[in-house]
Amino acid sequence: MKALVLSGGKGTRLKPLTNTMAKQLLPVANKPILFYVLDQVMEAGITDIGIIISPETGEWVKQAVGNGSRWNTEITYIRQDEPLGLAHAVKTAKDFLDDSPFLMFLGDNLIHGGVKSFVDEFRKHKPDALVLLKEVADPRLFGVAELDKSGKIVRLVEKPKEPKSNLALVGVYLFTPEIHRAIDQIKPSWRGELEITDAIQKLFDMGNDIRSHILQGWWLDTGKKDDLLEANRVVLDDLLQRSIRGEVDSKSQLHGRVEIGEGTKVENSIIRGPVSIAEKCLIKDSHISPFTSIASGSRIECSYIEHSVILDDCRVCNIERLSDSIIGRNTEVIKHEGGIRAVQLFIGDDARVEL
Ligand code: G1P
Repeated sequence: MKALVLSGGKGTRLKPLTNTMAKQLLPVANKPILFYVLDQVMEAGITDIGIIISPETGEWVKQAVGNGSRWNTEITYIRQDEPLGLAHAVKTAKDFLDDSPFLMFLGDNLIHGGVKSFVDEFRKHKPDALVLLKEVADPRLFGVAELDKSGKIVRLVEKPKEPKSNLALVGVYLFTPEIHRAIDQIKPSWRGELEITDAIQKLFDMGNDIRSHILQGWWLDTGKKDDLLEANRVVLDDLLQRSIRGEVDSKSQLHGRVEIGEGTKVENSIIRGPVSIAEKCLIKDSHISPFTSIASGSRIECSYIEHSVILDDCRVCNIERLSDSIIGRNTEVIKHEGGIRAVQLFIGDDARVEL
């Protein structure tokens, strides 16, 4: 069994962060989303892993994941020259996949409890495809499955205008090599992509056995700003353990599940978990409230931060209340005391400021 992890695309909905970073590398609780995906693939006992990369962000992915030694495995990188769809990615990976059954996992998707039980179910029952479904509020944004009364899939449609159910296709799929024959018979959709949803429908039309499983736990699809904040909240809430490796002075208070990385100093501050603060940060005269992650090298002074994600090497100074925010790397957010009451900005392309 092999795994194909998709880490290409342009991340348009997460600009400007994705101007300099692959969307799959954005951190959730201070760890890239892609790393959780690779952890879950390994946990399912699959060690032969191919990662689809794009020309735009592929080098960043390679740099972060490297040769796979962190997971004790070898990674094969497969370049998809254009984002022509998930089924096109499978086609591009044909040499790597060969005649093996495989797990396909979108590198910006996360599911509660991992994928081991689904991989085991696939190995045991040997269907031609096993798909995961999840009830969602707006199914028009996803591939949607229609089931019959017995719970069997009867139809799959990609981003339907009038969805027949509220069951979205989660970005985790298991296939036998039959999927390649189905992909060879489909045409690009209205958005110009070879859709995996259409390929699974074709597999069904060809008389193959498709199993489905409705997820009960959380599913996070981290494609845009609010999803990333939500993913950070859910993962901090669910997975964070208390661990203090930095220095906390006697004037500071840490409440609940707080993670403080090595080399980080907390001075005269209150931190209420769940909060993750990475290595080499300084938190001074500040208040950090739940569901906040601060990446390495950042300095927070005289500020109050809640429900936010601060990336590496930032400086936040004199901000009374920073909320629901994502701050990209090496950014300064500073309020000057006194002085002229004007907003002074030096912001990159595609930024968004709410005052
Ligand atoms: C893709 C699939 C869609 C699936 C979704 C899950 O959508 O085409 O069927 O529901 O991933 O994240 P996209 O991210 O390309 O819009």
